[in-house]
Amino acid sequence: MANQKIIIAIDGYSSCGKSTLAKAMAKNLEYVFIDTGAMYRAVALFFLRAGIDFDNTLDIAAALNKITLQFKYNPATLQSDMYLNEENVEQEIREMRVSQKVSEVAAIALVRDFAVAQQQAMGESKGIVMDGRDIGTVVFPEAELKIFVTASPEIRVQRRFLELSAKNAAITVEEISENLQHRDLIDTTREHSPLKQADDALVLDNSNMSREAQLDIALQWAQERINQANNQ
Ligand code: DC
Repeated sequence: MANQKIIIAIDGYSSCGKSTLAKAMAKNLEYVFIDTGAMYRAVALFFLRAGIDFDNTLDIAAALNKITLQFKYNPATLQSDMYLNEENVEQEIREMRVSQKVSEVAAIALVRDFAVAQQQAMGESKGIVMDGRDIGTVVFPEAELKIFVTASPEIRVQRRFLELSAKNAAITVEEISENLQHRDLIDTTREHSPLKQADDALVLDNSNMSREAQLDIALQWAQERINQANNQ
């Protein structure tokens, strides 16, 4: 069938440029971009506001029943914002107090089941670029294209610092470095769907690559997989 759409799964560590790449790919291919980290962040925000004990399974299940997550297009930024129960939380979920707790929340099996079911539903008609930690391994193990993005720890800290210090002048490099190390450790060692490279993922180390060069490579890979899907 001509114009067959594919699923593109992008995984990697925190702050290695996954979202930037995923957004640019989606725009170029006219696909839908889905930031799954935002979903875990919105759940973490709800839990923090409600004072949920992360070890209390009953409270967690009850809280998840009260959560509706939606992505809504924002014409001002030309991007989708994360909505938690009809409230735009796009800014708040990026704050340090959420970043400090989100990995713990994302390690909870009930939370993962809740998020993964919604992510799989979003990919039913394909034509998506989804970024996260377990997209190529758990959410869409059959994705036509899986990219595992990496960058050196120093470059990741530097990029995150530039991004966050623009909004928060008090933030320090040490604080960011500690937060990234803390999240990497939890994300890679948790029991449920830890971050790992899928066997059939293509690795993109962007430490010394411009955004444009990175996008060119990824789009080339995507085009190859789209052509394959159309020839099947
Ligand atoms: O990509 P991010 O930094 O916004 O992700 C926030 C947290 O959510 C991160 O610590 C790992 C977790 N996460 C996950 O476990 N699985 C995903 N698919 C996406 C994010």
